[in-house]
Amino acid sequence: GAPAGAGRDLAGRNVVVSAGGTREPIDPVRFIGNRSSGRQGVALAAAAAARGAHVTLVAANIDPSVLEPLTPAPPGAPDVTVVPVGTTAQLADAVHAAAAAADVVVMAAAVADFRPETVPEAKIKKVAGRHPEPIRLVENPDILAGLARERRRPGQLVVGFAAETGDAQAGVLEHGRRKARRKGADLLVVNAVGEQQGFGTTSNEVTVLDGAGEVVARAEGSKRVVADAVWDAVLKTRS
Ligand code: CTP
Ligand code: CA
Repeated sequence: GAPAGAGRDLAGRNVVVSAGGTREPIDPVRFIGNRSSGRQGVALAAAAAARGAHVTLVAANIDPSVLEPLTPAPPGAPDVTVVPVGTTAQLADAVHAAAAAADVVVMAAAVADFRPETVPEAKIKKVAGRHPEPIRLVENPDILAGLARERRRPGQLVVGFAAETGDAQAGVLEHGRRKARRKGADLLVVNAVGEQQGFGTTSNEVTVLDGAGEVVARAEGSKRVVADAVWDAVLKTRS
């Protein structure tokens, strides 16, 4: 086929990309968050737009400097709508709304697994000499698994990302394999993360798995190179 990332091979396709990291309020001034910069998702959106797709980027707490390649859209270029969100509930609503018209949904966002069960209206104060009240957490819905289970549009392709560290139980790829089988997505993009890798960095190394956990592609390089490899894998899966 055509060389990676060449041409307008996504022309006429509607794609949704979620990116960044969701934040769950603890009180009016504090939140539980994560270290995702949104760079990989922004690169996915930019690459899809360059290949001719209509793109909706659901952007969870992405710094404006990271969004710069997309906003403002230069004349005649990236056909990208950015929908800013904060919490996981907001991200879920925005993704579901956009997914109704999408050929492909890519969940690149780092979604908070848990949120505080209740959020007080007033700031939590410290009391001299007293331990703080524990914060009770409840689980957030799994947006990716839900999208994979109930396709919003016939033939819609659903893609997940998995940032793994590996641990005593299994390595990065084995964790990825198990996750691919569990989530029901068509593709899962697995990358190793740690202090020096993945989060906030400008380059990346990923393995793309299918829903059975089989390797369909590997890519290494800038986040743009990885993004184009993901769209290549999407087109390969669909054609
Ligand atoms: N994801 C999601 N909704 C959640 C959690 C995760 O849609 N509540 C999506 C992420 O956007 C990503 C994929 O699921 O595309 C994998 O996220 P990850 O955090 O690696 O998976 P989890 O199932 O939460 O497993 P873990 O215990 O490793 O965090
Ligand atoms: Ca998680």
